[in-house]
Amino acid sequence: MEIVVLDDPRACGRAVADAVADVLARGTGRPPTLGLATGSSPLPAYAELVRRHRDEGLSFAGARAFLLDEYLGLPAGHPQSYREVIRRELTDHLDIDPAAVHAPDGTRADPAEAAADYERLLAACGPVDLQILGIGGNGHIGFNEPGSAFGSRTRVATLTERTRADNARFFDRPADVPHRVLTQGPATIMEARRIVLVATGAGKRAAVAATVSGPVTTDVPATVLRDHPRCTLVLDRAAAGERAGPVATGQVGAPGRGR
Ligand code: F6R
Repeated sequence: MEIVVLDDPRACGRAVADAVADVLARGTGRPPTLGLATGSSPLPAYAELVRRHRDEGLSFAGARAFLLDEYLGLPAGHPQSYREVIRRELTDHLDIDPAAVHAPDGTRADPAEAAADYERLLAACGPVDLQILGIGGNGHIGFNEPGSAFGSRTRVATLTERTRADNARFFDRPADVPHRVLTQGPATIMEARRIVLVATGAGKRAAVAATVSGPVTTDVPATVLRDHPRCTLVLDRAAAGERAGPVATGQVGAPGRGR
């Protein structure tokens, strides 16, 4: 696991944007395939990508994107549905084909079927070249809450009350936060060729410390990433905090900084 500590969330956003630009530049003969997280953590990266597209001509034409997760029970077009958030914050401002931006469908009558369909689509289009992740204060990735089996794949899951409380800031009333979601499972996420997890702010410090230094356990879902061959944590100083072990600083993907 490579660890990059930068001054602030904007610097973290630029580092994540560099990793995305790298994938877009790499012409592998198949569409560059991005995995997108929602929530606050990737927003500086998305703002930076929008800026690079607008000011520097960074092109997403021909790229594909797969969202990590989606709420269940929100009507199509609800401003907090993750498909809608990604459209508003990112893809509407890029030259990516809207039809190439995929999300688990949280509006389907049978959510288990929607999950299975999403897995099939990912299997047909994958692997994801670069998966962007955030981390919950309890160590969740995607909406894989503590206790999620590392072998599980896209499925219906139930949010903990802590995560519902954390996400209440996006909704009019705390009670409006859905209880159930569709999420890629840890096993789905681990199939990405490269993973960049961004964590900023002191509220993420404990989860980051457990991810880096604690036992690998389903109690802290992000610890599954320790077994990924190309996973980078991009942290600001507040999220890195003080913890045991050396902290590597520098550029994402710089050689010799893994551990
Ligand atoms: C969102 C997601 C979640 C968030 C996590 C952190 O698609 O998968 O795991 O990344 O809840 O959320 P923020 O970034 O809002 O602190």
